[in-house]
Amino acid sequence: MSALRIENLYVRYGRREAVSGVSLEVPAGRTVGLVGESGSGKSTVANAAVGLAPVHAGDIRVHGTSTIGRSTQARAARRRIQLIFQDPFSALDPRMSVGDSIAEGLIASSRAYPRAERRDRVAELLRQVELDPARADELPRAFSGGQRQRITIARALAGDPEILIADEVTSALDVSVQGAILNLLRELQGRLDLSILFISHNLAVVRYISDEVCVMRHGRIVEAGPTEALLDDPAEEYTRDLLDAVPVLGRRMDLSAG
Ligand SMILES: Nc1ncnc2c1ncn2[C@@H]1O[C@H](COP(=O)(O)OP(=O)(O)O)[C@@H](O)[C@H]1O
Ligand SMILES: [Mg+2]
Repeated sequence: MSALRIENLYVRYGRREAVSGVSLEVPAGRTVGLVGESGSGKSTVANAAVGLAPVHAGDIRVHGTSTIGRSTQARAARRRIQLIFQDPFSALDPRMSVGDSIAEGLIASSRAYPRAERRDRVAELLRQVELDPARADELPRAFSGGQRQRITIARALAGDPEILIADEVTSALDVSVQGAILNLLRELQGRLDLSILFISHNLAVVRYISDEVCVMRHGRIVEAGPTEALLDDPAEEYTRDLLDAVPVLGRRMDLSAG
């Protein structure tokens, strides 16, 4: 059974339909890339999965359980998904220590963390994203962009998710640190058995991390398939145009992958 299954999803903002009949699956322990030009509806799919966008029709299931609606079951299913946002600069409260920000994420966990255990868990989470646990009391401004993205990843992991949705998590970062964040996600996936929906407008980044790719345009999936097969020989001109948009980074990413 798929970890995450999106079935014929429609999302409307007022009269504007942002997502029109999207279906996709993330098999357990795999990474599925969702790519498409800006405005194609990628973030709307992500937001709908965690209850932050108005689902008009369709379903979003976690291991078979629907996440739609207000039932206890739906809420519990939604909590098994954690969303990591694009911008590590605005995602963290500048006045809150990074340890406290990560501890906030513990609330989403189905496990209870008594106060005395919280500090240890935060330290463990910082180590998991390769940051020094001794820095838990520092404010976000003491950290670089890449380090802040690691902190937002730690906060997402605090909820003990089975599914991570990473929405443009490298887009705000320098090219030099993008690869390190991708490698961290791959490593965490293996260690924690995560299933990942990896959203990006950048096909080079998606190629590096995804087992399968879905290509989105104007609220619809226009093609989907195994990463290599699809990106080596896309059927859609639209996908070819997306590939052409990132040739230089594409070569670099391929080198680091090899
Ligand atoms: N909160 C919102 N209210 C109204 N329209 C929105 C909202 N969020 C996104 N949209 C619209 O939905 C469409 C898809 O946006 P989005 O999902 O953010 O695309 P992407 O992430 O692929 O760039 C766009 O036309 C965007 O303007
Ligand atoms: Mg987006």
